[in-house]
Amino acid sequence: MLLTGGAGFMGSSVARALVDAGHEVVVLDALTYAGRREHLQGVAVELVVGDVADPLCVQPLVDAADLVVHMAAESHVDRSVRDTRPFVRTNIDGTRVVLETCQMSGNKPIYHVSTDEVFGSAPAGVFFGERDPLRPGNPYAATKAAAECLIEAWRHTFGLDTRIIRCTNNYGRRQHPEKALVGWIQRALRGEALPVHGEGAAVRDWLHVDDFAAAILAILDYEGERRTFHLAGRNPRTNLEMAELIRSLIGSGRLVFVPDRPGQDARYALDDAHTRADLGWAPRVPLADGLRELIDSMRRR
Ligand SMILES: NC(=O)c1ccc[n+]([C@@H]2O[C@H](COP(=O)([O-])OP(=O)(O)OC[C@H]3O[C@@H](n4cnc5c(N)ncnc54)[C@H](O)[C@@H]3O)[C@@H](O)[C@H]2O)c1
Repeated sequence: MLLTGGAGFMGSSVARALVDAGHEVVVLDALTYAGRREHLQGVAVELVVGDVADPLCVQPLVDAADLVVHMAAESHVDRSVRDTRPFVRTNIDGTRVVLETCQMSGNKPIYHVSTDEVFGSAPAGVFFGERDPLRPGNPYAATKAAAECLIEAWRHTFGLDTRIIRCTNNYGRRQHPEKALVGWIQRALRGEALPVHGEGAAVRDWLHVDDFAAAILAILDYEGERRTFHLAGRNPRTNLEMAELIRSLIGSGRLVFVPDRPGQDARYALDDAHTRADLGWAPRVPLADGLRELIDSMRRR
């Protein structure tokens, strides 16, 4: 299998799960600020350092693979607000290159990892279904939605074998501290203030990265008709609740309110009932346990 973005946070967990399940994995990763060789330490994969938007790099890797799990992306919303260009290049053009190379390589299947953010903000009580319209609210989400549109277009126009996997906020080891949850843990461990956007009212749904990786294995094994998969943690928390929880688990740090992110989406929420029923998958890591384990591992480091 070719796994793009496999040296990143979620990719490195997926790489572990794939290898443990007996798959032969080649990781393609540009090792940007978010991807690190150390993330794959002890994992029996071949790491190719290269750009997913470069067809000359991608084509031979796709030719040598049976399928592609496509996770390479620029992933941080705040960065996309400051400069959208790398997001357009990697998330959109990179996905186009993966599609074209898979097409040229005899229609290799693509498992494309996307996000709950493509739907934009979910009104209270609404959980987005697989066929709901995409209404991205920030530049990162817009590039992920555009990538999904390309995936659907290649499927519709060229009959490419594609899957789209949308998940809620992941947390766990090897995540970059620019992401809120890990940043809060790092600051609380140092006794520093935890910055909370606006009034902390935005709601995110938390899924442990090991549960995400287990779902990827289940999706690879799945032989039914479903093409779009929703993976939800069903652990919705306001940012204020999550920062408070981390502060209380660590026993130090204080909250400080900072200006809200421009275009902040109030709430993300996926309906994952179909996916759970079809795959027999459900998250196993309770939020408090996952957080304690993550805090312990970061404390040790
Ligand atoms: N983190 C989340 O909570 C979350 C939630 C939903 C969906 N996603 C999606 O899951 C995927 C993985 O997210 P993550 O949080 O692990 O991100 P990450 O930023 O930790 O990892 C992304 C990886 O992609 C690599 N990469 C970036 N540009 C590249 C390029 N041009 N060519 C090759 N590799 C490149 C980076 O080096 C990095 O290793 C992304 O597609 C993201 O959109 C993430």
